[in-house]
Amino acid sequence: MYVVMLGGPGAGKGTQSAIVSQEMNLPHVASGDLFRQALEQQTELGLLAKSYMDKGELGPDEIVTKMILERIDSPDCASGCLFDGFPRTLVQAEALDGILAERGEAVDAAVYIKVSEAELVKRLSGRWICRQCQTPYHVATSPPAMVGKCDKCGGQLYQRSDDNEETVRKRLKVFFSQTVPILDYYRKQGKLLDVSGNLGIAEVSKEILCALRGREAQ
Ligand code: AP5
Ligand code: MG
Repeated sequence: MYVVMLGGPGAGKGTQSAIVSQEMNLPHVASGDLFRQALEQQTELGLLAKSYMDKGELGPDEIVTKMILERIDSPDCASGCLFDGFPRTLVQAEALDGILAERGEAVDAAVYIKVSEAELVKRLSGRWICRQCQTPYHVATSPPAMVGKCDKCGGQLYQRSDDNEETVRKRLKVFFSQTVPILDYYRKQGKLLDVSGNLGIAEVSKEILCALRGREAQ
């Protein structure tokens, strides 16, 4: 299965992708994580990505698509994966369809995690992420057992530099203008699964897994 996770900044794409990926045995392919990994390694791609991420803007479609293509060329993605943060423009959505069509595959479902704008801002302002395995925590709703340490791998937790108020506002604007049009793109193809993301993490996972398993069985 090829599944796309859609949602505004802070909607829970990373949180839910980690759970769904484990439950459905699908590799988790996160464009933002790939960018941050490249930045950590100080590669040319990472430094380029930083200039966009710092401003809350999207990186160029061509570069993002190439990065994703390289990732899904790995054998672990041969029969499916879970895309988190990609596609987020119509150009990227069409490019993904083209890439998968060449392999005789297609996007099976696009999950839209819908969360109110006020809640998105609240979630991002309290988020801490593991530097090693990227697991997200929240000071109020999902704190780690030990302050500053990841429960899963013991890695150090940090706050993303694009989670400041000004950049979050810009990311929200970009989401509404450039990513929301994709919802219609998938809706018209009968692939969009709307999920209410305002509930707790476990409830949202349940809803997503139920919708995806229903789709898988079709
Ligand atoms: P990216 O890393 O994809 O960031 P984003 O889309 O802004 O989304 P986030 O990762 O901030 O949020 P999330 O939905 O994953 O939420 P999370 O699960 O962490 O992209 C960053 C940048 O990279 C972009 O701005 C752009 O520059 C570039 N980029 C990436 N992809 C690109 C592309 N395709 N094209 C061009 N440029 C690209 O949860 C958030 C918080 O909420 C956590 O603290 C979590 O614990 C908490 N939480 C989650 N769910 C719940 C819940 N149900 N109830 C309560 N709390 C919850
Ligand atoms: Mg994320």
